[in-house]
Amino acid sequence: MKRFKTSTLALALGAIALVAAIRPAQAADDYPTRPVTWLVPFAAGGPTDAIARNIAQRVSTALGGTIIIENLPGAGGTVGAAKVARARPDGYTLFVGHTGTMAAAPYLFKSLKYEPLKDFVPVFRFPDTPMVLLVKNGARFKSATALFEEARRNPGKLTFGTAGVGSSSHLAAEHLAATAKVKFTFIPYKGTGPAMTDLMGGQIDAMLDQTNVSLPQTQGGRLTALALTSQGRMDMFPNVATLTEKELPGFLASTWYGIYAPAGTPQHVIDTLNQAYAKALADVEFTDSLKKQGIDVLPTDKVGPVAFRAFTASEAKKWERVIKAAGIQPQ
Ligand code: MLT
Repeated sequence: MKRFKTSTLALALGAIALVAAIRPAQAADDYPTRPVTWLVPFAAGGPTDAIARNIAQRVSTALGGTIIIENLPGAGGTVGAAKVARARPDGYTLFVGHTGTMAAAPYLFKSLKYEPLKDFVPVFRFPDTPMVLLVKNGARFKSATALFEEARRNPGKLTFGTAGVGSSSHLAAEHLAATAKVKFTFIPYKGTGPAMTDLMGGQIDAMLDQTNVSLPQTQGGRLTALALTSQGRMDMFPNVATLTEKELPGFLASTWYGIYAPAGTPQHVIDTLNQAYAKALADVEFTDSLKKQGIDVLPTDKVGPVAFRAFTASEAKKWERVIKAAGIQPQ
């Protein structure tokens, strides 16, 4: 009887050990079992929101799960970043980070509530988006040159919309003003979506925004594209010159984005998300639809977690240099 009891106990313990051993593999296969949230730290309708929704749709199909986009704007995207930095690292709350929140913010804010590469792990990088210098259709400026000349004649008089301090539209606008040697008055919004609404309404004079959300407005005749910030011209913006070819040789600006998870997120979750993203990017119909918005897909060796971590670190160094050289004091 005693013998029987001991062997029963041994069997039971063995079974528990076996269950424990196979549990991680099952969990890996199971992710996601419920909706995954991607937090966009800007208002709905802007470029971060648009590209995140576009990619989330494809990634959720590849994952066989649901991705919900949550918008939490504030302080150039850093309010949303701080929230995800403290989220449970289980793969169900992820952050759509970009140039501003993940590289420039530590040098712009004195009491930032997160450290980009300590509190987050990079998951995958979206394609970059170039920008467009925009004014209202029918505005008195018919070219970037005319806009810069007026800004030079009346320093600080022209208003320039941005998505808040440290947002990529703000960083690019500061860079533009410094290169053109002009002074604008920057008006911060909760995203470039609301800034664009005010630009159309004539409340502000100009702004820089990403090609993906600017194109429908320029094609619809509500806004005029004065110049592109890309290296070369783009078919979808016919007759629009680049700033580098004309007014500001060497001036380039674009925004990069990607998915970041709270530090401690299991590796199998990061791998599953990457496999789903790779599947999405292999769909030519999807990549062609991005190209039509002026967005080029990056080579595959640039999008994964290792390359994205190295890229985020190098961008942080770059923005530290730029911000210090410009004498911008953290607030
Ligand atoms: C930015 O300017 O940083 C963002 O692109 C703004 C937005 O997505 O609304």
